[in-house]
Parts: sequence; C-alpha cells; structure tokens
Amino acid sequence: MFKKSGYVWVIALLLLIIAADGYYQSQSSPVPIWQTEWFLWRVCAVVAIILGLLYYGYIMAGKKKQKEFEEFKAKVLEAQEKEWKVIAGELHDSIGQNLSAINIFLQQNIKASSNESGNLQQASELVVETIDEVRRISQKLYPKQIERLGLTVSIQAMAERLSAATGIKFDVQIENIDNVLTRENEVQYFRIIQEILNNIIKHSGAKNASIIIKRSIMFITTEVNDDGKGFTVSPSSMLGFGLLNIEERIRIVKGVYDFKSEEGKGTDFKITIPVK
Ligand SMILES: Nc1ncnc2c1ncn2[C@@H]1O[C@H](COP(=O)(O)OP(=O)(O)OP(=O)(O)O)[C@@H](O)[C@H]1O
Ligand SMILES: [Mg+2]
Repeated sequence: MFKKSGYVWVIALLLLIIAADGYYQSQSSPVPIWQTEWFLWRVCAVVAIILGLLYYGYIMAGKKKQKEFEEFKAKVLEAQEKEWKVIAGELHDSIGQNLSAINIFLQQNIKASSNESGNLQQASELVVETIDEVRRISQKLYPKQIERLGLTVSIQAMAERLSAATGIKFDVQIENIDNVLTRENEVQYFRIIQEILNNIIKHSGAKNASIIIKRSIMFITTEVNDDGKGFTVSPSSMLGFGLLNIEERIRIVKGVYDFKSEEGKGTDFKITIPVK
C-alpha cells in the first residue's frame, strides 16, 4: 500500500499526464477542444479524481478524530489512575497515621483512667474501624498489594475475599504472572479483573464463577465465566462505566477481548494481552 505522500505523487502524476495530453490534443484538434469526446472523458476523469480525493480526506479525518478521541480517553484513565494513587497514598500515610496516633493516645488514657468499657474505649474502637475503612478505601483507590505481593497473589486474594463476602464459589486457576507486565499495565489488568468480578457479584446472581489465567511467552490469556443470569448488550446495559472502562483499559494494555453473555446463560469473558 502507498503511504499518504505516495498517493499525492500518483495523483499529481495523473493530473500532469492529463494536462500534457490536453496540451497535445489542443494543438492537433481541428475543432475547439471542449467540443470533442476526448474532452468529456478527461473532465469525467478529473471530477472522479477530485471526488476520490475528497472522500479519502473525509475518511482520513474521521479516522484521525476517532484516534484522537481514543487517545484522549486513555489519557483520562491514566491521569485518573495517577490521581487515585496520590489520594490513596495521602489517605494511608497521613490520615491513617494520624488515626493510629489518636488510637495510641486513647489507649494510654484508657489505661491511666482504668476505664476499659467507657466512652474512651468506644472512641478507640471507632478509631480502629475508621483505620480499617481508610485502609480499604486506599486499597481500592490504588491496589498497593500488587507491589508487595505480586499480581498473581493479589488476584487470588481478591477472588478469595469476594468469595468469602458473597458466598459465590470462585474457582481460580492462575499461572504466575508476576513481573510480566509493566507496573502501569499490572494496575490496568488488575482493574479489568476487579470490574469483571464486581459485575459478577453485583449483577449476575451466580453461584459459581471461574477465573483461568494462563501465561505463554508472548501473552496472558484470561477467561472469566459465571453461571449467573447473563445479559444482553443494549443501550440501557451500557449506562454504567464498568464495561466501557474495561474496553478502554484493554486498549491501553494493547490487548483484545471477546465476551459472550446471553440472558439466563451466564457471562463469559476472554481477554488476551501481550506481556512486556
Ligand atoms: N456478569 C454479569 N452478569 C449479569 N449482568 C451483567 C454482568 N456484567 C455486567 N452486567 C450487566 O451489564 C450492565 C453494565 O455493566 P457495567 O459494569 O458497565 O455497569 P454497572 O456495573 O451497572 O455500573 P458501574 O460498573 O459503573 O458501577 C450492568 O448494569 C448489568 O446489567
Ligand atoms: Mg460494573
């Protein structure tokens, strides 16, 4: 295929040939050139070339717009992810730390006043609950455990946690996928799995779900199935951000996906992403 500049040269050459031909014809024609059949055909050819050029420009402009829009969406998600990481850090380090300090202070006062079931104790319990809540929110904003425990264990732990909280049986078969993606892509991939699992517990009503993650030299392939009620994709099913974000994140990690879902037959996600 020609590149863009290749097309311009071919068209310039065609126009040059038509112009040179026109000049030759006008010199040798006995009647005015616009009265000849030759002229009619050449006008048609020039009009066809101009129309072709306009169409080409229109298609290219559309493609460029689409590409710019996709880049914009990817940038928004990436910026959001960075922002969340900062907020998670602030929450954990400053608010979490202050709360821990408050709790130590309260415990010292409880001991000093030997009032172990009074208001101070209640306040201390509330502070401990708040610390847990802050940790949970900060974990949600940025899955820091990926850095500590690796992606493989983080996904396993997420499935176990959701299974314990909801009673849905998650069958997790996961090969080691630590350090095969860049750190940014690890977070993106984790978010994709997180949203698929969130959707299962929120919408599917499933009893069983399975997560199969395999790693080859070049790809990570992922299959997530549930035996829930399934759904059909319609404008109303696209009101949430989850599926749209999954699509966008898969584009960011340069992967491909396919999902099948039918009312009453569960949902089946297949995702393939390249390793770094
Ligand atoms: N595993 C599933 N089983 C059944 N229905 C599903 C499943 N996953 C998604 N859906 C349907 O697809 C819709 C769109 O999902 P999506 O994640 O985009 O939005 P949401 O979960 O409703 O909102 P959000 O993700 O923004 O909190 C859901 O409202 C639900 O009806
Ligand atoms: Mg969702």
